[in-house]
Amino acid sequence: MAARVKSAKPVKRATARVLVLSGPNLHRLGKRQPEIYGTQTLDDIHELLVAHAAKANCEVSCRQSNYEGELVEWIGDAKASGFAGLLLNPGALTHTSYALYDALLGAELPCVELHLSNPDAREAFRRKSTVAPACVGRVAGFGSSSYLLALDGLLGHLARQPR
Ligand code: DQA
Repeated sequence: MAARVKSAKPVKRATARVLVLSGPNLHRLGKRQPEIYGTQTLDDIHELLVAHAAKANCEVSCRQSNYEGELVEWIGDAKASGFAGLLLNPGALTHTSYALYDALLGAELPCVELHLSNPDAREAFRRKSTVAPACVGRVAGFGSSSYLLALDGLLGHLARQPR
């Protein structure tokens, strides 16, 4: 009797939910120093990111705040809210905020730090990142594409984690 071969059902990965946070002054993208940050608004970038995420079976929730404490709270609540990881452009808080560093350490979620510009190629104070040691990686210098590349990096990282 011929053995019956069961066709393997494709394993459908659950949609990954990613929280995308942008810090101080990034609400002014498009108007703010366009020679450095480009002419796209943060809403434009979020639209691109939503479309990019959809192609990867991923859902992004994009938020911006000028307030360190609000960012700290969002990071702290992210895991309980069902997010699988974080993208963070902390703006100038990148260079000063131990509160964000501590929030990331306590978040128990992977985070990718990202920047539109390349802080290492700018003023000396931008060469230090307080959040970098709490992140799985960093993307910087590619304008709005930094957001998309950071998402690709995070999704690759998540896919490599044992389940
Ligand atoms: C930035 C770089 C920071 O140094 C700066 O303070 C910002 C934006 C970036 O996306 O290039 O506000 O995070």
